[in-house]
This record gives sequence, structure tokens and C-alpha cells, in this order.
Amino acid sequence: MTNVQSSPTLLNVLAGQRASVPPIWMMRQAGRYLPEYRTIREKVGTFLDLCFTPSLAAEVTLQPIRRFELDAAILFSDILVVPYALGQTVSFVAGEGPRLEPKIDSDSIGNFAHQLNLVRLVPVFETIRLVKAALPPHVALLGFCGAPWTVATYMVAGQGTVDQAPARLFAYQDQASFSRLIDALVEASIEYLVAQLRAGVDAVQVFDTWANVLPPGEFNRWCIEPMCRIVAGVRSSIPGARIIGFPRGAGTSLLRYIHKVDVNAVGLDWTIDRNFARMYVQTRLPVQGNLDPLILLAGGDALDREVDDVLAAFSGGPFIFNLGHGILPETPVAHVEQMLHRVRGR
Ligand code: CP3
Repeated sequence: MTNVQSSPTLLNVLAGQRASVPPIWMMRQAGRYLPEYRTIREKVGTFLDLCFTPSLAAEVTLQPIRRFELDAAILFSDILVVPYALGQTVSFVAGEGPRLEPKIDSDSIGNFAHQLNLVRLVPVFETIRLVKAALPPHVALLGFCGAPWTVATYMVAGQGTVDQAPARLFAYQDQASFSRLIDALVEASIEYLVAQLRAGVDAVQVFDTWANVLPPGEFNRWCIEPMCRIVAGVRSSIPGARIIGFPRGAGTSLLRYIHKVDVNAVGLDWTIDRNFARMYVQTRLPVQGNLDPLILLAGGDALDREVDDVLAAFSGGPFIFNLGHGILPETPVAHVEQMLHRVRGR
């Protein structure tokens, strides 16, 4: 039996407990809004070099913990290291975002390596060991991957687009081939998450950033069903593995997601109706989120009011305070401090 008292608060919440002050972390908490991140970023060549240099990746993972005493550290890496370990060329163009080559389509899917080359990800596991050794015991360490649908959207388009139409079109035009891509990503995600958990992360989050662009039938097929297989696959190797699902923008489809997918908690984006989420989601499982990253950027009284509203909605049950999506690079550090003070000072 684990001693509940000595566990990080966030893990107690994942086990279904309510915390008097909710544990807090922020999606994309290690990043460009932090001057100390930018200093390190300038010293290394590419973004992937930073992800794959364990001493530096560990350092930037720890930066927001030192500065803000957050309740969880999230491994510094990216969801697109999986396509990289599957053999695509992945680069990040400054100011534009990721580029993946060659793009995956019906013709190239047959030539594509379906086996994850885990050797390429060994530096990530080393980063986890370094961070784990340096973290205070009350701070949880989170690993992550992208959900198959979201990762597939980048592999097919070769980049981010406004509505990830290339992957949606591919799935409509050639469902059998698209299924093969999703199947490969399900297997890769299981293997990658199991390896992260074995290296020492306390829980993992699966980011389905592009869940919002799918109609319900497609959401069932490409988001819910693969996620069910990932949860079962991870837990067949690691019974009791803690998993947070984040199907961003799922809307009312979130009810089907939590009904089918056995996650420990679900992330809420900022567009969801809070009463709906409290009554129909939080009564079933712990929730995380949902402050609009733009209100954190705005600051002022509006930020205080919104933090209060989020707390009023969710602090009566198991809740992890977080944003509804990643922190924006322009966000002033002082606004993060204001938010933390507001959450903790009550
Ligand atoms: O949360 C954290 O602090 C941990 C690190 C993390 C990054 N990306 C670092 C990063 C995590 C968890 C991610 C997840 C990720 N990456 C997602 C899912 C969540 C989300 O935000 O939607 C997605 C879709 C990606 C893909 C990706 N990576 C894009 C589209 C971009 C370009 C846009 C941007 O923000 O620059 C990235 C680059 C990226 N990933 C950066 C960081 C810190 C910026 C690169 C830099 O500093 O040079």
C-alpha cells in the first residue's frame, strides 16, 4: 500500500480525492514565456536538439517548478518525437511551427516504418531519470504523448493547418489506409508511454489537441477507440498506470469519451460549459483545466474573476487547476504569479 499522505497531491486527486487547494500545473509550462528558457534555447541549435539533450531538457523541465513551485513537472519534449522515431524527418521552423517529411498518404503508407525505433528516444528516458532524481517528492512528474489522431494530422499534412483538413480528407477517402496509420500510432504510443512510466514518470497525459475538428462518428473512430486501446495496452504492461486524457474541444462528445475511455482524469479546454462539466463529467471522474490561456495573457481583474469562476465550478470535487490549452509565449510571468496567488491564497 502506498502512503496516501506522502504522495504528491496531484496523484491523490487522480485517485479521486478532493484537495482543499487544488494542485496546479500549466500545459506548456516550460517554454518561451520564461526568460530562463529562452536563455537555454539560444544556446542549442534546434528545438529537437534541446529535447534530446537530457541535461538541458531536464533543466528546462525544472525551471517552472523552481520559479512557481508548481505541483507537477511535465517532461520537456514534444508529441512529434514519435513520428521522428517512426522515421519521418521532423524539424521546427522558427515562427512557423513543425515540418514533417515525407508526408504520409495512401501511396506512402505501405513504405512507412510501422515500428517505433525506441533507440531514438533513449535521451527522453534519461531526461526522466534526471528530473525524477532532482524533483522534491511532493511534486509529480508527468510524461506524455500525442493521441494517434492528433499526431496523424501532422504526419499527413506535414505541418499544422487551421483545421487539419488533409488528415480528415485522407480518413474519408481511404479509411483502410488511414486505419493502418492510426494502428501504428496506437502501438507506438503504448510502447512509448510504458517506457516513460518505467523510466519514472508518475502519470502520463495524452494530448488530443485536434479532437475538435471531428464530427461525432469520426471522433468515435479516431479518438475514442484508439484511446481505449492505448489505456488497455499501457495497463496490460503497467497495471494501475495513471492516465490523463485531453480531447481538446470535444464538446458534448466528451461524455462518450469518459464513458468509454478508462482514464483517471480528463482535461477540459476553455470552451466547455462549466455547469455541464461539473454535473456530467466531474461527478464521474477528476477534471483538470480549464482557464482560457488568453485571459492569463490579459491579466488584471478579468483574470482574478475567471480564476474565481473556475474554482467555484470545480473545487468542490477532485480537480487539478490548469489552463484550457498551452500557455501563450507572450504571457507575462507576473500574470502567472497573480493566478497562482489567487488559487493558493484562499
Ligand atoms: O508542456 C510542456 O511544457 C512540455 C513540453 C511540450 C512541448 N510541446 C514543448 C514545445 C508539450 C507537452 C508539447 C505538446 C505538443 N506539441 C502538442 C500538444 C499540446 C498542444 O499544445 O496542443 C502539440 C500539438 C505539439 C506540436 C508542436 N510543437 C507545435 C505545433 C509547435 C509549434 C508551435 C509552438 O508553440 O512553437 C511545437 C513546438 C514546441 N513544443 C515548442 C515548445 C516549448 C516551441 C519551440 C521552441 O521553443 O523553439
